[in-house]
Amino acid sequence: MILIVDFGAQYSQLIARRVREANVYCEIVPYTYTIDKIKEKNPQGIILSGGPASVYEDMAPTVDKEIFELGVPVLGICYGGQLIAQKFGGKVKRADSREYGRVKLEVNSEDKLFGNIEQNSLAWMSHTDYIEKSPEGFEITAKTDTCPVCAMRNTEKNIYAVQFHPEVEHTEKGREVINNFLFNVCNMTKDWTMGNFCEESIAKIKEMVGDKKALCAMSGGVDSSVAAVMVHKAIGSNLICVFVDHGLLRKDEGDQVEQVFKEKFNMNLIRVNAGERFLGKLAGVTDPETKRKIIGNEFIRVFEEEKQKLKEEFGHIDYLVQGTIYPDVVESGTATAQVIKSHHNVGGLPEDVDFELLEPLRQLFKDEVRQVGRELGIPEEIVERQPFPGPGLAIRVLGEITEDKLEIVREADFIFRDEIKKAGLQNKIWQYFACLPNIKSVGVMGDGRTYSHTVALRAVTSTDGMTSDWARIPYEVLEKISNRIVNEVDNVNRIVYDVTSKPPATIEWE
Ligand code: XMP
Repeated sequence: MILIVDFGAQYSQLIARRVREANVYCEIVPYTYTIDKIKEKNPQGIILSGGPASVYEDMAPTVDKEIFELGVPVLGICYGGQLIAQKFGGKVKRADSREYGRVKLEVNSEDKLFGNIEQNSLAWMSHTDYIEKSPEGFEITAKTDTCPVCAMRNTEKNIYAVQFHPEVEHTEKGREVINNFLFNVCNMTKDWTMGNFCEESIAKIKEMVGDKKALCAMSGGVDSSVAAVMVHKAIGSNLICVFVDHGLLRKDEGDQVEQVFKEKFNMNLIRVNAGERFLGKLAGVTDPETKRKIIGNEFIRVFEEEKQKLKEEFGHIDYLVQGTIYPDVVESGTATAQVIKSHHNVGGLPEDVDFELLEPLRQLFKDEVRQVGRELGIPEEIVERQPFPGPGLAIRVLGEITEDKLEIVREADFIFRDEIKKAGLQNKIWQYFACLPNIKSVGVMGDGRTYSHTVALRAVTSTDGMTSDWARIPYEVLEKISNRIVNEVDNVNRIVYDVTSKPPATIEWE
């Protein structure tokens, strides 16, 4: 296992993705993780991430120097590399101006990191500080026109540092550099495959749950579907899936979910129609975080009530299965990453949950979850389903939620999806949906003035939802969608298309 120590970098997730893509398991931990805990993890390699701080600042994030004495290879990237330089007595200095963009690398081809990398390949830099002088015992292995120590190594201690970012796409040979660290320096084996993951997880769940019962929070989305099918494979009919229809689903979604999982997978599925209950709790609520918290709480309450009801029929239920995935865990706040939104299946959990949580996908990125779904035999239309947030349309109707607004967003969203499918774009766009920004504006229809809602369309490309770009949907397709929505959906007279990437925006509007 590779341990990635995070110093608050924008790119820690990307480092993890690169390592996993190389079929090596890794985890991200905050820099505050103690040396004892690091030892417990027993990593075969450690990567120190970049970060926004300067190593010479007071209170700058740091690590225990013992990390370099564990006999485990270490790779420092950007800030991580500067930290290595500083810890071993080198010099880190502030540059006159921030270096941002591509540079040509002059590498030492004898080095384990750069053996298969030709001279002058482009690497991506984003830093203000740089290593001015490498510490004693370290030799320089790459430089650029402006950067005297673009990479360095201490082969005796197995410590490597790079100033550029091998994890980003803009670094031409970045993948090779990371793979070289994994396989030439750490001697990792490629054993992280989704096939292995499924087998091991199913066996683990079987052993852990035994003949106890589990209840699954099923939403019909990719994550909870994959989690449910995996647990179903492990414990069969001892898994009871409760599908809470919170009245915030897309058009016809509830019926589809019921049909697929009951008929195709023969799973124990109970549908609870709780729309009125959720809308009642949400009445008058406008704050996005409050909405999320209410929905998260209400979900758990509904499950607890179902559990009580099911007790007589099935006996005591110990576990709650959830489709929580790795980005949810990280975005809901580690010591280093700021809380952006509390995703309802993590941050929104009330403290008095009386289930043990079973979250078999907690370590996985989204594309890994899809792969697991395929391994489990889940049909492609579900595996490829675009992500849909737990709080559903509640966070796509900005401000107060009403039935009328939900109806508008449902119908507009249905048309949007229909046209994307007709244009054959559904697999090219990661996520696409309509949202209602709670804006009314003046329009003209026939001879009359209208004062109606604006529908915003959001479509993004992404691999894991952590970062995304707005999808370049052809104008003709947008035109069709716009015409259909204003003509077919009552109370809408204007359509706008969101052209913001993440960051700085998020994918959902709330
Ligand atoms: P944001 O809006 O944070 O969304 O950029 C990233 C991805 O996560 C989905 N999302 C959620 N998924 N519970 C979920 O299960 C939530 O509370 C939640 N909020 C956002 C969002 O649709 C996008 O795919």
